Amino acid sequence: MADRLRLADEVRLACQLRPQGELRVRRLVLDETDLMMTSQLCDSAATRSGESKRVAIFFSDIVGFTSLSERLSPYDVMYLLNRYFAQVGEIIEQNDGFIDNFIGDGLMAIFGVDDQPDAPLRAVNAALQTLATVDRLKPFFASMYGIDFDIRIGLNYGEAVIGTLGFVGHERLTAIGDVVNLASRVEAANKDAGTRLLISEALHDQIADKVEVADYVRVRLRGTGERTSLFEVIGLKPEIDAELNARHPRETVRHAGRRWVRAFAEDELQPHERRILTFEDFDIVVVRGPDTYCAFNNACPHLHLPLYERRNPAEVETLNLPHTGSTITSDLGLVCRWHQSCFDLLTGEVRNWAKLQPDGTSPGFEFVGDISKNRTSLTVYPCRTQDGYVWIGLE
Ligand code: FES
Repeated sequence: MADRLRLADEVRLACQLRPQGELRVRRLVLDETDLMMTSQLCDSAATRSGESKRVAIFFSDIVGFTSLSERLSPYDVMYLLNRYFAQVGEIIEQNDGFIDNFIGDGLMAIFGVDDQPDAPLRAVNAALQTLATVDRLKPFFASMYGIDFDIRIGLNYGEAVIGTLGFVGHERLTAIGDVVNLASRVEAANKDAGTRLLISEALHDQIADKVEVADYVRVRLRGTGERTSLFEVIGLKPEIDAELNARHPRETVRHAGRRWVRAFAEDELQPHERRILTFEDFDIVVVRGPDTYCAFNNACPHLHLPLYERRNPAEVETLNLPHTGSTITSDLGLVCRWHQSCFDLLTGEVRNWAKLQPDGTSPGFEFVGDISKNRTSLTVYPCRTQDGYVWIGLE
């Protein structure tokens, strides 16, 4: 029964007690309201009566959101928020975090709800991945809405009360305590510091040897009397990154004034096949043509939408998307799946620009307005083969 009710280790059913002396008993569930509030006859794994835990708290918000939202239609505001939150939510969960709440354009998440020992590091990892995701979203929002989209993140670590709040059917797990309030102030301190990610001293103490810190600031946070240090984190140490994110660092060399990365062995890709190489804030698609390799940025210059999904084709099929993939013509032209702009895969030049209605809108997406702007070339990268490997020239 204790297992079925998911009782914490320190909680006992009455029948599990072996009293060795006099006991005093106090009834905790007094009336119907108490009964509803404390019912454990639901299957939510997240129902908890209140435990003190050491957790990392993540706070983020969008820079200048009020003025951004005044410039966009209500639909676009919700679209922008949902697109951003969908990706950040996935990152939080992949790092074993728990999304506590969406507060307008802000998000609060908790790391360590289930006592994960690496919660402080996971919180920082999630913050760094969130910033990289925002960097991927920026060109899309800039071309779609003409806005400069960015966020700020603050992290703190300490003891909080974790428990379920709310009324029946609307409960949610949350964290309460100074550690939460302080995390929100750390996030707000980014504004004056001109930073995107700050962590508190308490969190820094947990992971100091695992992260790269660019700078620190001494501040007196609102509501606290003492001055404290906040640290600007810009990355994980390479060996920690490789371990945590199972990322194998790519071999790179300098050659003819460029940085070349080794992509894969030549025989891994058959003619007409393609592969997506994922970098921190962009992806490169490599296609094997009849007698050459082509590499290009996986973002159409029209609206910076992905030309190909990063998931594998079988997964993409289950998503039932209206446009599953861009197409490549026999003369190495790439036709974008969204509005059929066509680019030369060897030079990146525009062969045909987007098929849009005379007013510049896309059929079925008129609410987005004129999207005929941004006529620029596709970013292509030189490829070469050496010692049986394909190499891509970056910059
Ligand atoms: S996003 Fe590619 S043509 Fe519009």
